[in-house]
Amino acid sequence: MDELVRLEKLTKAFPQKRKQDVVILRDIDLTIKEGETLCVLGESGCGKTTLGKILAGLSTYSSGSYQFCGEEVRTLRKEKWDSFRNHVQMIHQNPYESLNPAMMVFDMIANPIRRHKHINDIPTLYKKVTDLLELVGLTPVEDFVDKYPNALSGGQRQRVSIARILAMDPKLIVVDEATSMIDTSLRISLLKTLVDIQTKLNVSYFFITHDLALGRYFARGQKAMIMYLGRIVEESPADELISKAAHPYTRAILSAASGSSEILQHSAGHYELLEADVPSFTALPSGCVLHPRCPQRIAGLCDCIQPERYEVSPGHFVSCHLYAKDRA
Ligand SMILES: Nc1ncnc2c1ncn2[C@@H]1O[C@H](COP(=O)(O)OP(=O)(O)OP(=O)(O)O)[C@@H](O)[C@H]1O
Ligand code: SF4
Ligand SMILES: [Mg+2]
Repeated sequence: MDELVRLEKLTKAFPQKRKQDVVILRDIDLTIKEGETLCVLGESGCGKTTLGKILAGLSTYSSGSYQFCGEEVRTLRKEKWDSFRNHVQMIHQNPYESLNPAMMVFDMIANPIRRHKHINDIPTLYKKVTDLLELVGLTPVEDFVDKYPNALSGGQRQRVSIARILAMDPKLIVVDEATSMIDTSLRISLLKTLVDIQTKLNVSYFFITHDLALGRYFARGQKAMIMYLGRIVEESPADELISKAAHPYTRAILSAASGSSEILQHSAGHYELLEADVPSFTALPSGCVLHPRCPQRIAGLCDCIQPERYEVSPGHFVSCHLYAKDRA
């Protein structure tokens, strides 16, 4: 598999009026290969969407590097930038806001094909649109081509959004909590459709969720990572992240979630963080940002020095002083 995405030491800061910029993402290192899924998990506000928007070219990065197909995104101009923007697409959380209510399904999918592939011949367009509707599971296609969004369920709207995105021949799709606003009973079927699409078209996914069980389901056999306050604290093959969670933060969120989910049972054992407020991005703790809440913090080290990233087994990385080689 060829490498599609490479982020190195990427940071993102938002400017504030009459105040210092607030840094949200720090030292983000990750890679995504063609046809691969990377699932990002983390609590609300940790920076998942901010990172997803950068990957999708919808937001800039402040420093560090983002290479797409080996080229630095910041330096892309004109045709190369347009091609990059076509190749990276994002499915948003809210299927009720993402579609134009005044446009028929046919036009919603045909318009990007017209623009992108310069196809205007109606029979050819109709064939392409109906092929895409079939691919996303909206069958029989004749029942959907002339519908308006208000006649569709949330799950069907998400499928139309996916078909519209696929019309651009994307290489990477950022899926941002795309099933959180649709009925639980329809979630798995939508996720299965996304997996089918990956098998058929070899697209890569950056799959954002705060739901560990959903993340584990979608990323099985692939990669997953955990974010806390704008940093990646652990990254690993997805199954190993659940069965052999190493970072104190991962262990704590798994322990909290496993009580309510069969899919996460027998994973982390009981593990709790200390009671302390989650710090704000404008007043981050020194050293390891988890140290005020970490039951295993090492005084004089964790509160002073940001931990490096250690490889604890092949492809399994943990940013925590407990895994420093000289402590093993
Ligand atoms: N344009 C902006 N200006 C300033 N701060 C921002 C901006 N966009 C996001 N943030 C801040 O960045 C942090 C991360 O937000 P983000 O939306 O990336 O989190 P998230 O992990 O996607 O959360 P959720 O799970 O709730 O969707 C938050 O503290 C948010 O307030
Ligand atoms: S570096 Fe220290 S404070 Fe941070 S997670 Fe590891 S043990 Fe806890
Ligand atoms: Mg978000």
